[in-house]
Amino acid sequence: MYRRPRRNRVSNAVRSMVQETQLVVGNLIQPLFLVEGNNVKDQISSLPMAYRMSLDMILVEIGECRNLGIDKFIMFPKINDELKDKEASYALSEDNYYLSAAQTIKDRFPDICLISDIALDPYSSDGHDGIVRDGKIVNDETVEKLASMAILQAKAGFDILGPSDMMDGRIAAIRVALDDESFEDVGIMSYTAKYASAYYGPFRDALDSAPVEDDNIPKDKLSYQMNPANNKEAMLEAELDLMEGADFLMVKPALNYLDIIKVLHDNFEIPIAAYHVSGECAMLYAACKNGWLNMEKAVPETLLSIKRAGASAIITYFSKYVADQLKRR
Ligand code: PBG
Repeated sequence: MYRRPRRNRVSNAVRSMVQETQLVVGNLIQPLFLVEGNNVKDQISSLPMAYRMSLDMILVEIGECRNLGIDKFIMFPKINDELKDKEASYALSEDNYYLSAAQTIKDRFPDICLISDIALDPYSSDGHDGIVRDGKIVNDETVEKLASMAILQAKAGFDILGPSDMMDGRIAAIRVALDDESFEDVGIMSYTAKYASAYYGPFRDALDSAPVEDDNIPKDKLSYQMNPANNKEAMLEAELDLMEGADFLMVKPALNYLDIIKVLHDNFEIPIAAYHVSGECAMLYAACKNGWLNMEKAVPETLLSIKRAGASAIITYFSKYVADQLKRR
């Protein structure tokens, strides 16, 4: 037998020499859920490793993450019901508390990379990422609002903006708006291939942002998020985002879509991000807590698979857990 692949697995020393993929703390992005108030740290019941936190607690959390080597954060706001309306007007309000929180965070931690969320769903009383008119999510009017949100977020100090809405043409509109205001250094991490997935459930619980039940409101996001059956469409979305000026192409969710991560990685010259979404993290966490899987092994294996498929930026609710593990190794 000339070929014995096991020779390269014979010891730790040899195994590490032939290891192709390495998960490093620099790959990890920590999600943060912001709520109004003080001293609030609410565990999310369907996503027990994540919390809704007021700004003061978020500052503590960022400090802890920094000590573990995490320096990238993506923040989402939970907006109180009385501030929501059909036009999602609070998204463009000058005294939006998400924007002032970003300012405080960046003053305190100037060297972190703070990533925003651009979409109307946290602010919309209809619970959609765009404006709903006559039972339809209108594209171009929504894009105008998203571009205005982008300017406010750039002014507040966000380093990279994350359009998660899946409207057509929004990357170009946001890029032009940013450049017009001299924010040419503010990046765009585009949710390029965001599928209409059942795995966003815990996130919508966390932010109370699901589409409302009303006969005049579409009850799902199928008219803008992608069909899980499609692959070619991801290529089209990626071509458009690349052309329109995105700095990262994101695939979301991650695990059921590793083939999409791979195909975008192999065909496009800009970095790939993957969102290991709430439902994916929740089910892994649940299996580990039940003693069905070993968390210490299953979590890093999972994230390694996302990296191996081709993503260098990984948003996961396990960032802190894995950063701690990497540090102790
Ligand atoms: C909405 C948004 C969603 C997530 C991020 N931004 C949910 C949705 O599209 O309904 C999901 C993230 C997760 O599940 O962790 N703009």
